[in-house]
Amino acid sequence: MKINPLQKIWPAAQTLAGRRHQVTDARPYKEVPGPPSWPVIGPLLEFIPGGSIGDMTLDPKVFRLLNEKYGDIVRVDPILTKPGMCFLFDPEAISQVLRGESVYPVRPGFDSLTYYRKKYMKTDITGLITEHGEKWKTIRSKVNPVLLHPKIMKLYEPVIDEVAQDMIKRIRSLRDSDLMIREGLDYELNKWGLESISTVALGGRLGALDPDLPEDSPVAQLIQCVHDVLEVLQEMDFNKPGIWKYIPTKQFREAMKLYDQQMQLSKYFVSRAVKDIERNRNVNSNEKSVLEKLLEIDEDIAVVMASDMLFGGVDASAHTVLAIMHLLATNPEKQTKLREEVLKNGDRKYLKACIKEGMRLKPIAVGNGRDTSKEYILHGYRIPKKTRVIFAHLAISMKETQYPRPNDFIPERWLTTKEDPLFHGHAHPFATMPFGFGARQCIGKPIAMIELEAIISRLVQNFEIGWQGPQPAFKLVALNYFVGPFGFVFKDV
Ligand code: HEM
Repeated sequence: MKINPLQKIWPAAQTLAGRRHQVTDARPYKEVPGPPSWPVIGPLLEFIPGGSIGDMTLDPKVFRLLNEKYGDIVRVDPILTKPGMCFLFDPEAISQVLRGESVYPVRPGFDSLTYYRKKYMKTDITGLITEHGEKWKTIRSKVNPVLLHPKIMKLYEPVIDEVAQDMIKRIRSLRDSDLMIREGLDYELNKWGLESISTVALGGRLGALDPDLPEDSPVAQLIQCVHDVLEVLQEMDFNKPGIWKYIPTKQFREAMKLYDQQMQLSKYFVSRAVKDIERNRNVNSNEKSVLEKLLEIDEDIAVVMASDMLFGGVDASAHTVLAIMHLLATNPEKQTKLREEVLKNGDRKYLKACIKEGMRLKPIAVGNGRDTSKEYILHGYRIPKKTRVIFAHLAISMKETQYPRPNDFIPERWLTTKEDPLFHGHAHPFATMPFGFGARQCIGKPIAMIELEAIISRLVQNFEIGWQGPQPAFKLVALNYFVGPFGFVFKDV
């Protein structure tokens, strides 16, 4: 297998790209290639069924078609209420924007949620997901030292492992006579995600994996509500953004109710946790929960942060586990190798490599973006300030030029050395970034890694995971959801 010559010379390529910044004869933004656009409707005809792209969503198929037809930088003009976007399929160009937007990065999307929180919440600061600029910075600078502190997060390893072991018991009890769980495995993993993140956000177990959990319990309601919120967000803020700003549609009214339900449920859990904290005062500071530490810093921030953790930390982790489980089930020799490592109970290098490779192939965020705060010159074009730039993460991490044999699950690429053409270091450093980048990257990354390591290792330790039947489908619901069918077979080891 040949190494792409460019892969060997990233530093030189970067210098060249840097020089391109100084080009004064850069071409105007309107010359960036993209679907043809018409007055008033913009490129709408290309995106409706029968058009050359045929889909209005940011589905992986749409990314692929745009890249194939127009190249590594693509301009899509505004479509009615949908803002214009500049798609980047080149990791070097992405790195320039992400590095350039380092102080107050603005991640677009979530407008309807922002609207709800700003209009209805009584606090000045509405949360990490919905704030920008100084207010966002204020929250991040207060929560980073707690949530990104490796020693603090390490304290959660035992309890998160306890949750993983309960999930294994749950899988055992739910299997049918074919050792399968054909219905609702995603819901069960959502419960695992909620139970795991609650240990951090609320400092205790909720009982989400309790076999007798009543359907109308607040825990069950929260799981369903978070899922419904993401579904409605996808429609209102990504697929058909902004219509609700002009017409208060039925969906808009439903969304406001759902956002409110999610906030009320979060407040319910936080206030229950605060009461517990008050009952158990004077404990050793190492044993203080994240919520307790945050309450000491700022009460308002503690509450919105706990709520954002319950919102952001359930589905993302659950669907990442489903995707990695499927890759292990369909690559039995990798699964065996992982099991051998886990049973030895030594270092966890192969486990970490399996997780990285799984997230390269099936990132929960197929794309991400930034609204730019200044002008950039990318690929010889002048990209004006306030452009919505979209990073095509999945499309890039699936390029042969970045990762040879891109469709194959090869955890070894993260462990091998530079003489090997598969070595991950031959790819551009921005070719895969499942948790985002920089000051705005996922605040839950350390917790998510602990959760993933715990559940994946317990799964292969207990089960030989197989797969039967058709390949699963993925559906974009703000996140890239694994929607089944669930062909997993859980055979006891
Ligand atoms: C495998 C699991 C997860 C993945 C793949 C993931 C991925 C991401 C990504 C891609 C972003 C956007 C970053 C950017 O724009 O640069 C993000 C943001 C965020 N994530 Fe996660 N996430 C995961 C789990 C979690 C968990 C467990 C929590 C709970 C603490 C969480 C809370 C958040 C929050 C609050 C933000 C917004 C951060 C900000 O804007 O400052 N995520 N996540």
